[in-house]
Amino acid sequence: MLAHIEQVLTKAEVAEFRAVLEAQDWVDGRVTAGSQSALAKRNLQVPEDAPAARALGERVLGALGRNETFISAALPLRVFPPLFNRYDEGMGFGPHIDNSVRFAGPVRFRTDVSCTLFLTEPEDYDGGELVIEDTFGEHAVKLEAGDMILYPATSRHRVEPVTRGSRWAAFFWAQSMVKNEPDRQTLYDLDQAIRALSAQVGQGDASVITLSGVYHNLVRRFGDA
Ligand code: NI
Repeated sequence: MLAHIEQVLTKAEVAEFRAVLEAQDWVDGRVTAGSQSALAKRNLQVPEDAPAARALGERVLGALGRNETFISAALPLRVFPPLFNRYDEGMGFGPHIDNSVRFAGPVRFRTDVSCTLFLTEPEDYDGGELVIEDTFGEHAVKLEAGDMILYPATSRHRVEPVTRGSRWAAFFWAQSMVKNEPDRQTLYDLDQAIRALSAQVGQGDASVITLSGVYHNLVRRFGDA
């Protein structure tokens, strides 16, 4: 599933984030890459332990904690603290699959869901599309600043070389309560359909109540918490 989550950050917040990031020391992005992806990766990152980046990351997580689409699509158990990267002219990231296991301090978790939150308006750079492969082909993603794409961490993906400007983003992973992507997709579809039905007939409708119960009982069956 590819889920486009709009306006995780407002334009004002994006401007504020960019001003903070502007002042950071950027380092070679290969510090967080696995051995295969280090070969393909050319970008810059703010160090994971930079206090200002940590604080921005917390704000992203706060916004996502209130975002129904994110919760429905990710069913998050643990969310890795967001990191910040940039691709300047000539930089890109060749095809790779993200590491299956990551550490946030002493906490080890499985990466089920990958997220990229765009921090540069699409007209301000050329190239830099996030290209995600799935069984239906390739999907080139380039969103408005403040919007986020969520996709299965099992997917092969790449960032096309930037040919003009600079592409800034936050990126992170979540461990989902539901490990299996098709199960997660089914639950997401069901939840979206219940929301749509509920908007038509009201939350108190008997069928909506029953279907909501079915949804939660399926989360109990498929998920671990
Ligand atoms: Ni990646």
